[in-house]
Amino acid sequence: MKKKLNGLYYPTKDFQKQANLNNKKIYKEAQKDPVVFWNELAKKEIFWQEPFTETFSVTSPSTSSGPEIKWFSGGKLNLCENVLDKNVEKNPNKIALIWEPENPDEQTKKYTYEELLSEVNKFANALKNLGVKKGDTVGIYLPIIPEIVIAMLACTRIGAVHLVVFSAFSPEALKIRLQTIKTKYLITADGYFRRGKIINLKQNADLGIEGTDVEKVIVVKRAGNDILWNNTRDFWFNELTNNESNICAPEKMNSEDLLFVLPESGTTGQFLPIMHTTAGYTLQAKITGKWVFDYKDSDVFWSTADPGWITGHTYSIYSPLLNGITTVLFEGAPDYPTPDRWAKIIEKNKITILYTAPTAIRMFKQYGAESFKNCDISSLRILGSVGEIIDEPTWLWYHKEIGKNKLPIVDTYWQTETGAIIITSLPGIGPNKPASAGLALPGVNMEIFDDNGRPCKNGVEGNLVMLSPYCPAIVRGIFACPPNERDAQEKYKNVYWNLYGKDIYVTSDRAIKDKHNIIKITGRADDVIKIAGRRITTSELESAVNNHLQISESAVIGVPDEIKGFIPLVFATYRGTKNKDEIIKEIELEIRKSMGPIATPKKIYLVNELPKTRSGKIMRTLLKKLYFNEKDLGDTSTLSNPETIEAIKKILE
Ligand code: WTA
Repeated sequence: MKKKLNGLYYPTKDFQKQANLNNKKIYKEAQKDPVVFWNELAKKEIFWQEPFTETFSVTSPSTSSGPEIKWFSGGKLNLCENVLDKNVEKNPNKIALIWEPENPDEQTKKYTYEELLSEVNKFANALKNLGVKKGDTVGIYLPIIPEIVIAMLACTRIGAVHLVVFSAFSPEALKIRLQTIKTKYLITADGYFRRGKIINLKQNADLGIEGTDVEKVIVVKRAGNDILWNNTRDFWFNELTNNESNICAPEKMNSEDLLFVLPESGTTGQFLPIMHTTAGYTLQAKITGKWVFDYKDSDVFWSTADPGWITGHTYSIYSPLLNGITTVLFEGAPDYPTPDRWAKIIEKNKITILYTAPTAIRMFKQYGAESFKNCDISSLRILGSVGEIIDEPTWLWYHKEIGKNKLPIVDTYWQTETGAIIITSLPGIGPNKPASAGLALPGVNMEIFDDNGRPCKNGVEGNLVMLSPYCPAIVRGIFACPPNERDAQEKYKNVYWNLYGKDIYVTSDRAIKDKHNIIKITGRADDVIKIAGRRITTSELESAVNNHLQISESAVIGVPDEIKGFIPLVFATYRGTKNKDEIIKEIELEIRKSMGPIATPKKIYLVNELPKTRSGKIMRTLLKKLYFNEKDLGDTSTLSNPETIEAIKKILE
């Protein structure tokens, strides 16, 4: 990209010439009538078993529920057929998937589109034989191995709804997810490697399924570690698929049939099992890849996200594979065994597009450009960022050191709820601005509203919202099994469709637009903190802390961290006599147990009392100000216990 005097970056002539989208007219065309715009794309991009009859509709079933959004009603399609069969027809020998194991001495695995189809069909047949039917839910608790791709695609092929649980999640986190979908089936592995150590995943799975409806557990052999085995319940993945036929007809799915559920954290620690449906997700996953990453047949795309998260679902798997290009999965940690591991993977596989999170970029920035210097990374042609705000120094480092001052950077903004990217300036059009996500994609109408629901003037911060017709992959609801559906519908309405009325989708992010319509995300409007790109609410952390029997109350705040973006800081009330260091260790353990190691706090402070208003609300902003030693503590007159200020100051010293 070239920098212009106004501080904006534009594509080079050569890049622009070859780009899939290189004319800004597309924005105007889309704006004329976004529904017509998406209609035409859907006809062109998706293989329909039966054509759709209505492009978009939105209705309001009752006052206590959110809107019911439908895209491409009447149509029938299968996502897996669009991913595999259609690309096998074009080029069966094209590499679909490259898998890099954590241990660099272990062999890389590659699957052509034809091989992947064959593996998916075998496993789809195996699932059917175990009793999985269209509409059933299936839990997937797998590390980053090819079988996670095979399992997800096999589910979509037979119309089963997958719920992927991040493999580093604790048994408790697994249990809640399995209970939510009341599934009878879980796919897991014996173990996996993390920094050379074996993690016994099966043991976590065994604990996690206690008290759930799971009756059948399919186990992939990965690490070869010893595991406990239940003969009536457990099945080896290989033994199930060995003798299966590699032919399995893709199920005919309605456009609005549930495709997958993926739980996320929302305001005040709400657990939000987000629902995505078939056609809208398929279209947006496919087209955003073509637009934002400028996919070409020869591209080798690497999204470093774990398939357990939405970025992994959409951009490690579905988007590149829908577009018939090669996707790379890497099992291990970015800097293991050495900080040049990523560079080596790029060099070895001639990766052309790298899509990662600011946390990883900041880590490499700290290692220094040397970790990339000894490898040839000249195959790269586009860089992407996702999941958190990328600060300007990190953006500039990424541009200079990895992008050699010429590669476009797409800073992509989206959410689990939007299923795919909704904001980023396109690499063949621009303009791109460091630390700003950019323009809303064609056909997506984003606005920034003030508290009264009026559009903010340029340069004024407000709430980021999406206006009708939203985007095809927008969240369709919060999943719940009977008898909890009504609660879920109310939650759906309250979290996303309440602030400005039922036709305005609220992102819960704060943002600013400049005079070029470039959107800069400034932070969350709720209590979500993004720790290394993961969504965790302070209230979830607080309840984990409060699990400790001797802790009655706690307050968590997010403070900036050089690598992780944000990191939690815990204040907990403790008046007991036990050794404080021990209590702190136990609290840390509680947090790691319920939220995973990612949520480990920077520090845990034990206090006598937390600052509270007269109405009993904990003043978290005051804690933040005290931590940063700010002179102006704001209005403290509403405090019911002003003496806490001095006490906490002392502890922080
Ligand atoms: C944040 C991840 C700034 C934002 C795809 C959003 C970002 C939340 C960006 C969703 C970005 C995502 N710049 N902030 N480019 N992308 N976010 O559901 O707060 O894990 O609401 O989806 O991440 O996180 P989620």
